[in-house]
Amino acid sequence: MEKEKLVEKIIELKKKRKAIILAHNYQPPEIQDIADLRGDSLELSLKASKTDAEVIVFCGVFFMAETAKIVSPQKKVILPVRDVPCEMAEMITVEDVLSLKERYPDAPVVTYVNSYAEIKAISDVCCTSANAVKVVGTFPNQKIIMLPDMNLALYTQRFYPDKTIIYHEGFCPFHHLLTKEDVIKAKKEHPSAIFIAHPECRPEVIDLAEHVASTSGMLKLAKSLPDKEFIIGTEVGLLYPLKKENPDKKFYHPAPEKMLCASMKKITLEDLLNALENLEFEIDLSEEVIKKAYSAVKRMLEII
Ligand code: 13P
Ligand code: SF4
Repeated sequence: MEKEKLVEKIIELKKKRKAIILAHNYQPPEIQDIADLRGDSLELSLKASKTDAEVIVFCGVFFMAETAKIVSPQKKVILPVRDVPCEMAEMITVEDVLSLKERYPDAPVVTYVNSYAEIKAISDVCCTSANAVKVVGTFPNQKIIMLPDMNLALYTQRFYPDKTIIYHEGFCPFHHLLTKEDVIKAKKEHPSAIFIAHPECRPEVIDLAEHVASTSGMLKLAKSLPDKEFIIGTEVGLLYPLKKENPDKKFYHPAPEKMLCASMKKITLEDLLNALENLEFEIDLSEEVIKKAYSAVKRMLEII
């Protein structure tokens, strides 16, 4: 089917189904363009929960659709492609968390939203890359467990020299691949550009950054800063909304081939049409997991 026809059918079916289409900041351009809302995972889930849509079609990875279900249990949440794992979320198991809790019984567990619902359900509180520092700061405890991203934990540790952050050794393979040499090279090629790093990057990469921000934070900074050129240290898909929203500014990527999350590029317009036609693939979580995971998400929302 031609692209125009596909888009027309998707819009028509979306109305019929009383659905809302969400797209994460890393999704392919045609998916971002057709979405009702584009943003980071938590922001999308929260906004969708406040609408009267009966169906949420989440164009992102698996944990994101789960998060939408956790905050909107009464809505149907659909992921257009079933096999879209987040490689970082895959790096931790329930057993890993239970063994950390056993070793450090007095340490609260702060879990990055980039994790599966069953991990959130056994955590004290969730955090995002934008609010991790604030969330950790609310605990008087000397020891704090952070999961599953060691780079986000090490970044947060910088703000609390008197605390010990115990972390699980998970990471985002795509952010972790960015080296300080890549950044130094990009800075040499673009001497007027400032470098913004995602907290999922390695510590030595963070050291080179003028700013550290989540994907939504990067979009805000690009708009609000007077600078005209930026080197962007996150998954390469973010360059599309950055360029679209700031046509007068220049954005460079230090390692576009390395920082490409395959799961984020799988959903096509055909998949989206199929999702609306057949309402597949639906996210199914037990009431128990939803209740427990929601309590960790809610605690974070009360802090931020
Ligand atoms: P944010 O959009 O929350 O910054 O997360 C980045 C990411 O890697 C999502 O998978
Ligand atoms: Fe997960 Fe990394 Fe892909 Fe984000 S970019 S979804 S953290 S694997």
